[in-house]
Amino acid sequence: MAKSKISKLTILTEFEVYQSAKDLSKKDAELLLEAQKMVKSAYAPYSNFQVGAAILMENGKIIGGNNQENAAYPSGLCAERVAIYYAGAQYPNVGIKTIAVAVKSKNVIVNEPLSPCGACRQAIAEYENKSGKPIRIIMSGEKGQIYIAKSIESLLPLMFSKKYL
Ligand code: THU
Repeated sequence: MAKSKISKLTILTEFEVYQSAKDLSKKDAELLLEAQKMVKSAYAPYSNFQVGAAILMENGKIIGGNNQENAAYPSGLCAERVAIYYAGAQYPNVGIKTIAVAVKSKNVIVNEPLSPCGACRQAIAEYENKSGKPIRIIMSGEKGQIYIAKSIESLLPLMFSKKYL
């Protein structure tokens, strides 16, 4: 039988798993609390799925964001990108250390960590590449476990980046 020319590339990805916010470090718990606060002012009348994000910058500043929906659906934006683009606009030369994400749905109970959508992963990747330092991502649901990724690479392996351009 002819030897197969196909080999496999296996990519391992890893997250820290916390049983509750009580197990987080003080700094991470504080950032998650900020994200939970931002959930309350999300503008999500169409999906009823409110998301909050809080970003810890390297200069210690905390930037909040939440999803902003629109009657023309694709014109809306996720919480993570609202926060990260604001951070990029306000502090163009400051790196991002951590982003925390929280959620509250009026339709279901989100009992697992909310994982950023593909477009938000790409946006987070951009700022990680911009500063050259990893961005930690704290993902939480309304209840249940909390996941922490050490870098966007855990969520977006084989990412497209400036290295191709
Ligand atoms: N959404 C976020 O803000 N972040 C996510 O990580 C996932 C989805 C928003 C987009 C939209 O306003 C609503 O949640 C439902 O998709």
